[in-house]
Amino acid sequence: MTEKKLRELLNDMTLEEKVNQLVQIPGSYYDKNASVTGGIENSRFSETQLNQAGSILGITGAKTLRQIQETYMENHPHHIPLLFMLDVIHGLRTIFPMPLALGATFDPNLVELTAQAAAKESAVSGIHVTFAPMADLVRDARWGRVMESTGEDPYLNSLMTAAMVSGFQGNHPGEQERIAACVKHFAAYGKPEGGREYSNVELSEHALREFYLPAYESGIRAGSELVMASFNTLNGIPSSGNHWLMQEVLRKEMGFGGVLISDWASIEEMIHHGFCQNEREAAKKAIEAGVDIDMATNIYANHLAELVESGEITEACIDEAAYRVLRLKNRLDLFENPFKDGDEDKEKEIILSDEHRALARKTARESIVLLKNEKEVQTGKELLPIHSGETVAFIGPYVESKGLHSTWAIKGRAEDAVSIREAAKEAMAKENVMFACGCGMMNRDNGIILKRHMDETLTESDLGIFDEQTEKQLEKEALEAAAKANLVVLCLGEHRLLSGEAASRSDIGIPMVQMELFRKVSEVNPRIVTVVFSGRPLDLREISEKSMAVLEVWLPGTEGGNAILDVLTGACNPSGKLPVSFPYSVGQIPVHYNEYATGRPLKGKEDTAFYRSRYLDIPNHPLYPFGYGLSYTDFVISPVELSRKTIGGVQKSLKASVMVRNAGSRKGTETVQLYIRDIAASVVRPVKELKGFCKITLDQGEEQKVEFEITEEMLQFHAADGKLTSEAGGYLLWIDNSSDTGAGIEFELEREEHV
Ligand code: BGC
Repeated sequence: MTEKKLRELLNDMTLEEKVNQLVQIPGSYYDKNASVTGGIENSRFSETQLNQAGSILGITGAKTLRQIQETYMENHPHHIPLLFMLDVIHGLRTIFPMPLALGATFDPNLVELTAQAAAKESAVSGIHVTFAPMADLVRDARWGRVMESTGEDPYLNSLMTAAMVSGFQGNHPGEQERIAACVKHFAAYGKPEGGREYSNVELSEHALREFYLPAYESGIRAGSELVMASFNTLNGIPSSGNHWLMQEVLRKEMGFGGVLISDWASIEEMIHHGFCQNEREAAKKAIEAGVDIDMATNIYANHLAELVESGEITEACIDEAAYRVLRLKNRLDLFENPFKDGDEDKEKEIILSDEHRALARKTARESIVLLKNEKEVQTGKELLPIHSGETVAFIGPYVESKGLHSTWAIKGRAEDAVSIREAAKEAMAKENVMFACGCGMMNRDNGIILKRHMDETLTESDLGIFDEQTEKQLEKEALEAAAKANLVVLCLGEHRLLSGEAASRSDIGIPMVQMELFRKVSEVNPRIVTVVFSGRPLDLREISEKSMAVLEVWLPGTEGGNAILDVLTGACNPSGKLPVSFPYSVGQIPVHYNEYATGRPLKGKEDTAFYRSRYLDIPNHPLYPFGYGLSYTDFVISPVELSRKTIGGVQKSLKASVMVRNAGSRKGTETVQLYIRDIAASVVRPVKELKGFCKITLDQGEEQKVEFEITEEMLQFHAADGKLTSEAGGYLLWIDNSSDTGAGIEFELEREEHV
C-alpha cells in the first residue's frame, strides 16, 4: 500500500479503532497453548478491544494463526490484518546456543545465519515479529537474563545485535521468510541493582552513553523495525514513561522511526514503581513518552480515547502511534498478504530441517570455550581431546539431559535435542564408554523454591530431583564407573530453569548436590574433564582447580550433545572466547575487563602493597577474563608493529599488525583481538577497550599477518559535556588472544580537537 493510501486509511478510522491498533493482547485469549510470560489477571479487555486489538503475542503455528487472522479481518471494520509477535530468541524449534553463547563465537556472520534460520522457521509458522535481539549490556552474573545478552562489551554487543537484526529482517522484513526484529530492552535493563530482576538502575548519563546505549543504537542502525521499552527505572524514571529517553535519545538522537512497544505490562507497572497515581496517568505518560503499543494490558485500550476527548492529549499523538503500527503492517506486506509466509507444508519442510540442525551443531561447536586443558606429567600431553582407546565414564546429570535450551526457547522441545549420552554412543566405540547420572540436577530445597516461584505443576523429574535412596544408588554407580574408567567426563551445571527472566541468583555456584558428586568422583579418579552447562558465568574455582580440563558449553541447544562430542573427541578444535568475565567469586561482581584504573590501581597480580584498590581475601582479577579461550593447538602472536607512531594531519590512520603462527600440532582457529587505552583524557577512560577482532584459521605451522587500521573514530568517547570527541595525546594498543595478555605499544593522536 502506498503511504498516501495508508494515511487515507488512518483518516477513515475512528478514534477507538486507532487506539485499538495500540493494544496488544496475550495469545492465551485465543489459544490455551499460548506462552504467557506475565500475569494477565488484571487485564480484562472488552469484546471490541479483543476483536480489534492490533497485535497478539505468544502464539505460533501456520494453521492457528491463519484461522485467527481470517476471523479477525472479517470482523474488523476496516479489515486491517493483525500482527503476530513471539519471543524467538535463539531459534524457534531448532534451538541454537543461547545468546551469551552466540557472543562466545565472536562470529557475527554465523550469528546472522542463526537469526535467519530462526526467522525462516518463524515466518512459515505465521509469525511476523520477534522480540529479539536483546541488546542489554550485562556485567552482573547474578541476573538471570545474562544468558540472553551477548556479554559485557559494547563493541561485541553492537556487532552481534546488528547481525541478529540483519538475520531476522534481511534487507526488508517484508521479504520472503523474514520477520521484523525488536531491539530490547531500552534502556539499561542489564544493570539491575544487586542483579535482582526488575530492580532499579542507577547509572550516570556518561556510563549510559559510553557502555549501554551503543548496542541498541547499532540494532537501530541495522534497521530494527521495533524497539521495546524496559521494565526498569533509569535514574528514577521508568522507561515506559521516560520522555527524555524515548523522545530525545531514541527518536531524535538515534533517529528511530519505528514502533516502540512496552514490555509486558510495563505501562501498568509505572503505578507500582510509584511514578503514576493510576492507570489513566500511566497511559498519558507512556503515550507522551512515545510508547506506541501497550503490551498485555488494557490501559491504553481503556484510557487513551478519554484522554483525547478531555483534551489532555491530542488526537495527533494517537494518529502518530497508530500510523507507525499500520506502517509496520504495511512494511511486512500484510495488507496484500495477511498470512505472509505462514504455510503448513513449509512448516514441515523447514522446521528442524537438516540444514538448520547442521547450523545449530556448527554454532554450538564454535560457542564452546575451553577454559583449561592441563598437560599430564607422564606423557606431556594435554588431557583433551580424548585419546584414542581410552575408556571414558560420562558422569553427571547432564549426561542424559535433553534440557539444553533456555527458558527463552518457547517452542523448543527437549525430545528434539541430542544428549551427551546419545552423541557419545554415536561418536565413540561402545566398549570405550560408560554412563552414569551420579546425582540430581539440584538439591531438593532449591527445587521446592523453584516450583513455588515458577510453576507448581513442575514435577520432580522436570527439576531433576531424586529421593535420598535413589541419590545414594546413583552415586554408587557413578563412583564405580569412575574407578573403572581411564578418563571421567563430568557433565555438570545449572538447570536451565535457573537462568532467564526472573531467575536471579545470589549464589552462582554449581548446585551443592552436584559439587558433592564432583568431590567424590575426583577422589576416585583425578583424570577429570568437567563439561559445564550454564546460563550465566558460574563460580568455577573448585571445578577449575580440581579438574584437569574444563569446557564451558552454556545451554547449547538442539545439537548440544553432538557439538560437545565433536569437541571432546577432537573432531572439532575449540575456538570459543568468553564474551563475559567469569568472576573469581560472587563478591567480585561486577567484574569486567573494561573497568577504570582508580587512583590506586593494583600493579599487576603480584602487587602486595596495602593501600591499593583491592580485596583482602580474593584477587581483583576474574577467574577467566573476557576474550579468553584455549585451543588444542598453540598460537604464537608476535609483538605489535605500527606502520607509524602517530595519527594526525594528513595521516588519518595507522596500521597495527601482528604475525600469528600456529605453532601447535593441528589446524585451529584463533580470535585475534585489538584493544586500546586512552592514557589520559578529560574524563577517565577504561584500562582497555575492544576495538576490533579477527577470527583466522591456520593449519599446523602456518603463519598469517593480521592487520587492523586504527582511525581517529575508534578513539572517540563521550566527554563531560556529553559530546562525542577524541582527544590528542598518548594511547596504548594491544593485539592478542585475550583481554589480559600481550604488551601494550604506544601511539599518539596529534590533533587538538575532533572535527
Ligand atoms: C520480557 C520480554 C518479552 C516479553 C514478551 C517480558 O516479560 O521482559 O523480553 O519479550 O515478556 O514475552
